[in-house]
Amino acid sequence: MRESSKPWRPFTSNCCSVEDQTIFGNFSKCRPSRSDFSKDIAELPSFRRLSFSDLSRSSSTRITEDLAQSFGGDLYDFQVSELRAITHNFSSNFLLGEGGFGTVHKGYIDENLRQGLKAQAVAVKLLDIEGLQGHREWLAEVIFLGQLRHPNLVKLIGYCCEDEQRLLVYEFMPRGSLENHLFKRISISLPWGTRLKIAIGAAKGLAFLHGAEKPVIYRDFKTSNILLDSDFTAKLSDFGLAKMGPEGSNTHVTTRVMGTYGYAAPEYVSTGHLTTKSDVYSFGVVLLELLTGRRSMDKSRPKSEQNLVDWSKPYLRSSRRLRYIMDPRFSGQYSVKGAKEMAVLTSKCISLNPKDRPRMPAVIETLESLQNFKDMAVSCGQWPVSPKSTKNGVSPKAVRSESRYGSYRKSSPVAPKQKA
Ligand SMILES: Nc1ncnc2c1ncn2[C@@H]1O[C@H](COP(=O)(O)OP(=O)(O)O)[C@@H](O)[C@H]1O
Ligand SMILES: [Mg+2]
Repeated sequence: MRESSKPWRPFTSNCCSVEDQTIFGNFSKCRPSRSDFSKDIAELPSFRRLSFSDLSRSSSTRITEDLAQSFGGDLYDFQVSELRAITHNFSSNFLLGEGGFGTVHKGYIDENLRQGLKAQAVAVKLLDIEGLQGHREWLAEVIFLGQLRHPNLVKLIGYCCEDEQRLLVYEFMPRGSLENHLFKRISISLPWGTRLKIAIGAAKGLAFLHGAEKPVIYRDFKTSNILLDSDFTAKLSDFGLAKMGPEGSNTHVTTRVMGTYGYAAPEYVSTGHLTTKSDVYSFGVVLLELLTGRRSMDKSRPKSEQNLVDWSKPYLRSSRRLRYIMDPRFSGQYSVKGAKEMAVLTSKCISLNPKDRPRMPAVIETLESLQNFKDMAVSCGQWPVSPKSTKNGVSPKAVRSESRYGSYRKSSPVAPKQKA
């Protein structure tokens, strides 16, 4: 852990900024007195929703007190020294991953730490105090994950707020992130059925958020934020950018553009208007990554292939040409019918017009229906084994026709903030 620290600066100087108010919708308001705060909770028996600004400008002691009062026994309030001990001083030997917030380390908890604590492995996320993220993202995770429980969302076990230190403690996900499985060379290729299972699990997580009594927009749907359980059940993690959806007659929330280049919906990038359909676009990009085994943005590829959406669009709606962009790591072991339907679904999800994108329940229905297809490309002899094929199985002919579709490429939008 970094020893250098600088004084904690509140993330906003104005508790009623537009950005604050839209993060948690109607629940965001100037920090109320403690009695107002309790009233908010009491009014929402089925799904209490804390206010972001309620807690955003308080001292760390006050925040801890308020969180403890709100979450009671649902979330544990840990001390830095305890989390330091269970991760061997945040040792790099126990490093699970790293993103825009900071590093994530493995640790173990049990009854010796707190009475009643189930013995289990955990993942401890540690804020990089020098980094771009901070209290806002930490608080968003505590407030959303502390209140939303679903089999396809990672479980938050506790948090730590001590001076300028901000940490989060989650259930440990033994198979790590989808990103690691899909793109790391050392990993064994994910079979077709497993990719489908992961897509369905992640879709259920998103559908749950969108269908909540007060809809939530996840805003950072991507492979590094999809974690995998031992049986490849997908769980959404990293709620640092999550936001309350529009309410009443509003069709969208307006916000600063944040997210990850290559996944963010074009209309959100250009207007800052955020809807649940922005998440559907990002979901489509992940489907595309599952189909092709390529990253949404890959600067190491030739220019025309760097943006996955632009590059793949012409192939998605052609059942004849689809095979050219399928992940070569399948070695042809995928359902041809299933892949075609998934490609059509992907195409809808990444439609430029948000209204043409399906809602998540419809996405789940389509994906589940693909599980019934048992055909495999190899058995149908459809896998191209031309020795002239390029790295990704794209034949020179296909590459030529791909460049014809270069006109699909739009001029680069303003790049949203990079975040792992
Ligand atoms: N609960 C967990 N179990 C296992 N690995 C995790 C867990 N949480 C995070 N990781 C690993 O750490 C990486 C970064 O975590 P994430 O929450 O996305 O951090 P950030 O907010 O910095 O992007 C993930 O991509 C994953 O590889
Ligand atoms: Mg992340």
